[in-house]
Amino acid sequence: MTIDLEQLPATHVKLPSGDLMPTLGLGCWQSPPEQLIPAVQHALNVGYRHIDGATIYGNEEALGEGLRRSGVDRKDVWVTTKLWNTEHRPEDVLPALKASLSKLGLEYLDLWLMHYPAANEGNEIGKIVALDISYVDTWRAMEECVELGLVRNIGVSNFSQIELEKLLANCRIRPVLHQMERHCYLPQNAFMAYHRKVGLHITAYSPLGNTNPSFADRDPLPPILDNEVIKSIAAKYGITPANVLISLQLSEGNSVLPKSVTPQRITENLRVVQLSEEDIQAIAKSCAGLRCRYCDFSHITMYKFYEGLNDDD
Ligand code: A2P
Repeated sequence: MTIDLEQLPATHVKLPSGDLMPTLGLGCWQSPPEQLIPAVQHALNVGYRHIDGATIYGNEEALGEGLRRSGVDRKDVWVTTKLWNTEHRPEDVLPALKASLSKLGLEYLDLWLMHYPAANEGNEIGKIVALDISYVDTWRAMEECVELGLVRNIGVSNFSQIELEKLLANCRIRPVLHQMERHCYLPQNAFMAYHRKVGLHITAYSPLGNTNPSFADRDPLPPILDNEVIKSIAAKYGITPANVLISLQLSEGNSVLPKSVTPQRITENLRVVQLSEEDIQAIAKSCAGLRCRYCDFSHITMYKFYEGLNDDD
């Protein structure tokens, strides 16, 4: 089958600020700095316009360097980074943003996310302490950063529905989106419906599910890229199984952040199609009962994440 241009998913989403965010971005978690520089450079040169970083990834300098080496205008690239858990005290928020901007070598961010609702002291595993600081207070300090013009949009990541409800009831500036783990082993359809109800856009991370080798030791599920239904849909459109998984998120109305430091995969991952409702249902059926949340660091951060979410739906 040749891809009909009318069958391409939306390339941008309009956020409540009026900004248009490219729906497909390059994820940077676990990208070593020396590999991220050429990865970002390559991604921008082959057409990506959205790069998703975070302070805790330890590679903000590399992200900024890749952007500069690409020669693409800063204003044409959507740059996201995230506030880390150790900077949740309201008085630490603006300095954390300034530190990120300085590492990135940028004057402003397109999007700044609260990485987790948890406030912590320390980063050394085994010595991390939970702090009693409400994410609502941290959010208020992030709102002030928007007013200072240092960040155009603010949002959240890894929140539960209970936490989103509390934040939405107590904010002056609404989060523009929620970035969360989503793939066909973690569809969270009821939570998806909640986001639609309250008008909150979802950005899906880890769209390739258990493709990441670091998940291998705790994963009882079959490799998602070997799923026969996904392979047959890929063959139908003349794309790869990874393309199908990325397309799935876009086709369901989310934006999506596949991570790769491999130039050939970075290029490959751009090839997306609008899947039909039939394709989406067939994928869901083929993964029924296969459920896994891969990114849950509750045991490390001494904070129970994703409380009340039903990962089985
Ligand atoms: P690498 O960075 O070495 O290329 P996710 O974004 O779902 O968390 O997946 C990230 C993982 O998937 C990384 O290990 C990345 O490896 C790998 N990956 C990214 N794109 C592809 C692809 N098109 N095919 C296979 N593996 C991929």
